[in-house]
Amino acid sequence: MMGGPSIRPRRLRATPAMRRLVAETRLLPAELILPMFVREGLTEPMPISSMPGVVQHSLDSMKAAIAEAASLGVGGVMLFGVPEHKDGVGSGATDPDGILNVATRAAVAEAGDALVVQTDLCLDEFTDHGHCGVLRASSASATGYVVDNDASLERYREMGIAQAEAGSQLLGLSGMMDGQVAAVREALDATGHPDTPLLGYAAKYASAFYGPFREAVQSSLEGDRRTYQQDPANRREGIREVLLDVEEGADIVMVKPAMSYLDVLSDAADVSPVPVWAYQVSGEYAMIEAAAANGWIDRQRAVIESLTSIRRAGADATLTYYATEVARLLR
Ligand code: PBG
Repeated sequence: MMGGPSIRPRRLRATPAMRRLVAETRLLPAELILPMFVREGLTEPMPISSMPGVVQHSLDSMKAAIAEAASLGVGGVMLFGVPEHKDGVGSGATDPDGILNVATRAAVAEAGDALVVQTDLCLDEFTDHGHCGVLRASSASATGYVVDNDASLERYREMGIAQAEAGSQLLGLSGMMDGQVAAVREALDATGHPDTPLLGYAAKYASAFYGPFREAVQSSLEGDRRTYQQDPANRREGIREVLLDVEEGADIVMVKPAMSYLDVLSDAADVSPVPVWAYQVSGEYAMIEAAAANGWIDRQRAVIESLTSIRRAGADATLTYYATEVARLLR
């Protein structure tokens, strides 16, 4: 008998064709969702310096980008509005003529039924203080205020109705207020929108990786969101948030960010009876771009590997700024 192992996993790695055949995880354009920023008053798209290759769209450039994504089989787009004027309660969010609602109507008309038009349901792009909810003065807090959970829910209800009436096909609740899914569900059901589905950003962490997004939406936030977004130290709490959103009626739940939270994503995929999505956020994109621009990593391989890892950890679909590019690669 010759020496050496009889069991050799390398047999299945020997050729590209064999590796392709035994791959456990595949990426598909239909499972990719493109986040898009639409800025009020723009006539030309405007680059976002911390996210090379990503822009703030004008309405026209948004429509063109949606048509392109649709033609490549991308599953959906997630719209974020960047308004010209902000105030304490985020009035622009509930104004039917506010940029996000205007963009939604234009996006739905452009997309037809080629992809799912989704909208960010959160106040932070619309408030002058940059928080995801409305504030209440509080002497008990070092900042002199707290983000008022239940008053914010009232605004979310109104925002949900405005978005449903603008034609949004999936509302992405990203504000991390307790009870937000139940509140918006109830508001939609009471106003003739029982068929509008809700995506709960269920396990959303207070992350440094949202940094470039702040530039993308010209956020006016000072301080942080640690009193409502989750502590990065907590894994068990991610499961709790996912289960709560499911109980409240979320049709889909999300884990965010993605790559630093693959354990939470895996947990969510284990327990959730509804689809689980992940968001590869702005800082994850920026890190790949910066390292690649320096010649320190192979950009395309890093993009595919990062998205494959998110899929492998349990994401049924992924929001990624690479959606259109990867859909083209996969063709
Ligand atoms: C809140 C929201 C944020 C992101 C998506 N929705 C910012 C935040 O919570 O601070 C971040 C997305 C990204 O970084 O790509 N409306």
